Amino acid sequence: MPPDTEKSADYQRAGSVQILVWDLLVRTGHWLLVLFFFVAYFTEGDFLTIHNWAGYGIGVYVVIRIIWGFVGPKHARFADFAYGPAKAARYVKELILFGVKRYVGHSPAGGLMIFSLLISLTATTVTGAALLALEKNAGPLAPWLGGGAALALEETVPGRGLFAAPDRVSEGDDERDEDRDENNGEGKAEALEEIHEFFSNFTLLLIIMHIAGVVLASVVHEENLARAMITGRKRLE
Ligand code: HEM
Ligand code: HEM
Repeated sequence: MPPDTEKSADYQRAGSVQILVWDLLVRTGHWLLVLFFFVAYFTEGDFLTIHNWAGYGIGVYVVIRIIWGFVGPKHARFADFAYGPAKAARYVKELILFGVKRYVGHSPAGGLMIFSLLISLTATTVTGAALLALEKNAGPLAPWLGGGAALALEETVPGRGLFAAPDRVSEGDDERDEDRDENNGEGKAEALEEIHEFFSNFTLLLIIMHIAGVVLASVVHEENLARAMITGRKRLE
């Protein structure tokens, strides 16, 4: 067999070999993340309970995914796709020119996007939980940031402790409480709401870029990357 034909037979064999790249946790987690994100994004305001639970879902998954990034299988590990920004930029340039190397796991740009998404999702979730504590004295951060905590620091009158209910707290001292809210709580909550909104929109921007990257890489490498995120399988070469 002439060398060229040999090479192409090898190539075809490698091309038809499918390997498992994305494990069950990564795949299930990814599509739950997609669901939770859009539920959270479109349910603030009137549907705050649903909003908060979708947000907690994201927070819990992000923690699990970070642990998985150290102990999970090869392609789920951070070390497998931590290439740095310079390599990511070169990858994007070459991808646009349709002349880029294919990666079975995450590419340098895909890897950088995943780190960015995880950081931005963490910031959105933490600012959301802090906002809930400041505005409603509820949620996991209420003991630290809620009305009860503010009062516990301020004074030690019985019944005004760390976990005091907000209505009980304001009894008989309305004027002072209002002043305190205006000067501290409300102002802080407004600023935090802005920060929370900023991070949720920044995450949305990253997601749009993430999907654009997935579509472009799928076209350039003639493979359906979204389907691979469902089946977990990709061709070897
Ligand atoms: C329908 C829209 C989406 C599609 C088609 C999609 C598709 C994909 C694909 C194909 C990958 C693997 C990339 C690669 O081959 O290197 C991936 C990874 C990832 N995507 Fe998406 N994605 C979507 C929406 C989202 C959203 C909304 C988020 C975040 C809220 C997100 C977060 C992630 C993360 C964190 C990874 C890394 C997976 C891991 O290693 O755990 N994606 N996505
Ligand atoms: C990644 C997940 C999340 C996204 C995408 C998201 C998105 C948003 C958006 C777009 C707003 C509207 C901001 C504005 O109009 O000023 C908002 C408000 C809010 N979010 Fe989130 N959020 C997330 C997670 C959370 C979490 C985990 C909590 C709390 C546990 C939370 C609590 C709140 C609260 C209390 C508000 C203010 C609602 C109001 O006063 O009307 N969010 N969120």
